[in-house]
Formats: sequence, structure tokens, C-alpha cells
Amino acid sequence: MNNVQLVQSKGLRGEITPPPDKSISHRAIMFSALAGGISRVKNFLRAEDPISTMNVFRRLGVKIDDNGDELIIEGKGLTGLSEPFDVLDCGNSGTTMRLISGILAGNPFFSVLTGDDSLKQRPMARVIGPLRLMGADISGRSGDKYPPLAIKGRKLNSIKYKMPVASAQVKSCVMLAGLYAEGITEIIETFKSRDHTERMLKAMGANIEVEGLSVKVASSELNAADVIVPGDFSSAAFFIAAALMLPDSEIMIKNVGMNPTRTGFLDVVKKMGAVVSVENEREVSGEPVADLFCKSCDTLKSVSIGADLMPSLIDEFPILCVLATQAEGITEIRGAEELRVKESDRIKTVAEELRKFGVDLEEFPDGMAVKGRAALKGCSVESHHDHRIAMSMAVAALAAEGKTIINNASCADISFPGFFERLGLLAR
Ligand code: S3P
Repeated sequence: MNNVQLVQSKGLRGEITPPPDKSISHRAIMFSALAGGISRVKNFLRAEDPISTMNVFRRLGVKIDDNGDELIIEGKGLTGLSEPFDVLDCGNSGTTMRLISGILAGNPFFSVLTGDDSLKQRPMARVIGPLRLMGADISGRSGDKYPPLAIKGRKLNSIKYKMPVASAQVKSCVMLAGLYAEGITEIIETFKSRDHTERMLKAMGANIEVEGLSVKVASSELNAADVIVPGDFSSAAFFIAAALMLPDSEIMIKNVGMNPTRTGFLDVVKKMGAVVSVENEREVSGEPVADLFCKSCDTLKSVSIGADLMPSLIDEFPILCVLATQAEGITEIRGAEELRVKESDRIKTVAEELRKFGVDLEEFPDGMAVKGRAALKGCSVESHHDHRIAMSMAVAALAAEGKTIINNASCADISFPGFFERLGLLAR
């Protein structure tokens, strides 16, 4: 299934439940492993990234059983992890590496974190910097820029840290290290990034205070918990965009996580003139959840987006660029330089692949301008081994005349196993 062929579609019809949330799945394993007692996690995302997290914690001595229905995790307490016998492989997952480095910095043993070729080129100074301020013994390849990371855990001190980049991964790393530090660790964000760590740690009894852009964490033990993971908004976004763009679509997307730090894409599509009905709003394990009804919008308008919105739609940049190809006017996205250091340089890879469809666009160091109302032409595109690029190009392919081939498409499994089959089931 490594190369996938798609043809133009008249529209999407039917119902879909997106896969479980990736960010929350990672955190459910990590925090349960650090809690006292047995936690159960339902609707865990069995995809490559969270499985990397699960494997790392097994190597740290945590017993995790998967009975098919739920994960049963025997928590070891904050300092009960054991020194791993070998290097810890985080695969393609930045979340795994960055969050775990905060945990390992406070655990009194030696460990090395590595990953695949993409992860080994992603910046780690952003976690090494604050962890060293907390007294951690941590270093990385190439002058502390990149993985592998070597950590000798020890006693940490608290810090007040003003974040230079908006990143939930860095925030969470420092928060987790803060659980091991003496005194109160304070993190101040520039713009609010996803707050799943704050919500879940608080629900497990951690001493956490959130006030605007400030998060304070004090050293605290965690209690075991039962977590039900909601559907992933970022995975749902591909279906939202496809339904809006394709001429005769009507779909219901069930059980979508609606944490407001994640749903910036929904605010933007509303600004573009689309109507997405949010139904059956409820709360599941401390996270807002709803069902979304989406239908075609043939009057999409262009928008301008800046850095303030970026954290709440960070992973939706590629699919937003695809949607912009069908809006009236020029959509300009700025303040998105973080996209250059994701699983691929997403500004470059999106620009390169959309141009193959015939899209007129301009690439900026911090974003892109996309000319709308493009008549997309089927072509052969690359995923660049980036799951969100593969899935975004699949949506573009459904709107393109003729047939499109997506090469190296199986990387969609990183966050959304079965994506192409499910898109195929809804596309007419
Ligand atoms: C994530 C945070 C985001 C996001 C990533 C998952 C998380 O990264 O892009 O897919 O689970 O905390 P940054 O916080 O580095 O922007």
C-alpha cells in the first residue's frame, strides 16, 4: 500500500469516527506510568507514534497490557522507573522524545533517546536549554542541537521559564521536570498551546495552577486514573476540509475532541464562510467532545492568518493550504516558521507538492500565500515520509481532475491507520 492512487471525487457522504487523539494517547501512557496504582486507558490510538511511547515505557520497566479493549498500565510512581538496558527508540515521534526527556531528567539513571532519520534532525535545544536551567545533565548530538539525547537523571531545581517558541511539547517537558523539582516551576507562554498535559495531570492530582499564559507546577505524586481518549481533531480536519471543498458532500464526523487549544482550524473555516454544525457537545475524561456535521461550501473566501492563531492549528497548516486552493482570493498564512521543523519542513513540502497540482503560491520564510479557485490537475506527489503531507495531498487529489498517485503514502499510519480505506468509503 505504499503508493496510493486516487481519482477525482464528486463528494463525501456518510459518517466517520476519527481515530483516537494522538497527543492525549501519548500523555495517558506517560502519566499513568508515573502514577501510583493501575490506570486503564480506553480508545487508545494504536498507531506508530503512541506505540513508540508505549515501547519506551515498557523498556523503562512499566507493565502495560493491551487486552484489545483497553490498556492496563501498572504505574511505578514518579521515581519507580528502571534504567533501560539499551537506547530508547522514539521512532518518528517528537512528542515522545521531548516529553520523556523531562521525565528522565529527574530519574536517577542513565538513558539515551533516539529516533528515525526525521526525528534525528528535529531541534532539541528547545528542551535541553530549560532542562539545564533546572540542573539537568542532558546533552545532544551536534552541539546539543539534535538527537540522540543522553541524560543522566538527577535532582532538579524549579525555574521560571518564559518560552521562546509556542510549543506544547516544550511546555509539557518542563512541566514534567517540574514534578521532580524542588519549589514551584512556572512556565510562561507567548501564545496558548494545547493544554492536554495541564488537564490530565490536574485530574491525576498534580499540583498545577493555570492563569492565562502562566502554568505553575509543584512537585506532586500522581494518582492512577481511568482515561477515555476522544477522537483526534487533527485527523478529523482532513475530512472537514474534503467535505467543504468537494461539490456534493454531507458528512457526520462523530466523537471529535474539541479542546479550544486545538480547534483553530474550525474558527478559520468559519471565517472562510463555511458552516460546520457542532452537535451533541459533551465532556469525556476532562476534554470537550462533539459531533461535527459538514457539507460542501462553494463560496469559500480567502483569509489572512498570523502567529496568534498558529498554536491552535499547528498541525492543520498543510490541510489549510489545500483548502485555500479552493477559496476565492489569496489566503496568506504568516507566523508559521515552526512548520519548518515538523516531521518534514511543511512549508517547503506543501509548496512543492501543491505546485505539482498546478497551484499558484508564494513561499515565505514563515508561511505561504495560496492563490485560490485553482483548477487542480492530477499528478504524482511525494509524502516526504510525513503523515500529514500524505493525507493532505490525498484530499487535494479528490478535488483534482484525473488521477493522482501519492508515493510513500503508508506513513499516514503514524497517526491515522486506515486513512485511505476510510476516505475511500466516503468518497463517491
Ligand atoms: C504536540 C504538540 C505540537 C504538535 C504535535 C503534538 C503535543 O508540537 O505539532 O503534533 O502532543 O504536544 P509543538 O508543541 O512542538 O508545536
